[in-house]
Amino acid sequence: MAHPVLLIHGGAGQGSLSEQKRQRIELSLNTILENVYPLLRDGMSALEACTMAAALLEDDPLYNAGKGSKIQSDGKIRMSASLMDGHHRRFAGCVNVEGLKNPIHLARALLSEEDRVLAGQGARRKARELGLKFASPYTERARHAFERQQEGKSGTIGAVALDTKGHLAAATSTGGRGFEFPDRVSDSPTVAGNFANGFAAASATGTGEQIVEFSVAASLCTLVEAGQTLSTAGTHLLQQAKNAQAEFGFISVDAHGRLYAGTTTEILLWGSATRSGYSTLGRQRL
Ligand code: GLY
Repeated sequence: MAHPVLLIHGGAGQGSLSEQKRQRIELSLNTILENVYPLLRDGMSALEACTMAAALLEDDPLYNAGKGSKIQSDGKIRMSASLMDGHHRRFAGCVNVEGLKNPIHLARALLSEEDRVLAGQGARRKARELGLKFASPYTERARHAFERQQEGKSGTIGAVALDTKGHLAAATSTGGRGFEFPDRVSDSPTVAGNFANGFAAASATGTGEQIVEFSVAASLCTLVEAGQTLSTAGTHLLQQAKNAQAEFGFISVDAHGRLYAGTTTEILLWGSATRSGYSTLGRQRL
């Protein structure tokens, strides 16, 4: 039996966190880890743990995914999410879907379908057919950023997990960059932003175009499959990104339960739960 591991992130970016914001994020990440990790330890699959953690992150308006998503330049919120089951090497996702409470739930439902990545109106229609919940993702904070035509460089949530059977999964969800051209496609519903195989699982955050150009999550897991350690592969990718002045980060875990998280940005909001305890924003707790 493998020792389960859960990592989650709430995005990467530049700047510094005020103490108040740091405390709010720490509390949010801790609460989610404490809700999901005991279930993973009790036998929940990595796939269901990632789905649950991602949905909880989507529900928290602190993050740019689900409730709290950023607004595109035409005033609309379009959300994207994906999920990958590393054990079965199966990927599903939704692209630029409007009004859905939890885009990750649509990705979860699409995993068992033949057509596993749906966009726009088709994704919305499928979500209705599946009886998924719809809710307004708009918040005052997002409206305020929109009024200032504020573009962010990042914003995503994600989760990766190793379960007791040794299976891996990854989930990623985003509201996009903010004030981008309508219908821009981010990295999050692609294998660059979210990938898992039998060897590793990774979820990326940061500038979507650069994450795609470095094929971050898929490259990392493929390097591990080819024999590199997770930390060698992760360090290599981050060094390449730094050389190119690319701005992104990622969380990852391998089939041995080793974890690796890193970023070229100033901040990566992330936390982990392992048999040794919980850690959030660099602070360790038992
Ligand atoms: N990584 C999220 C985005 O670029 O939209």
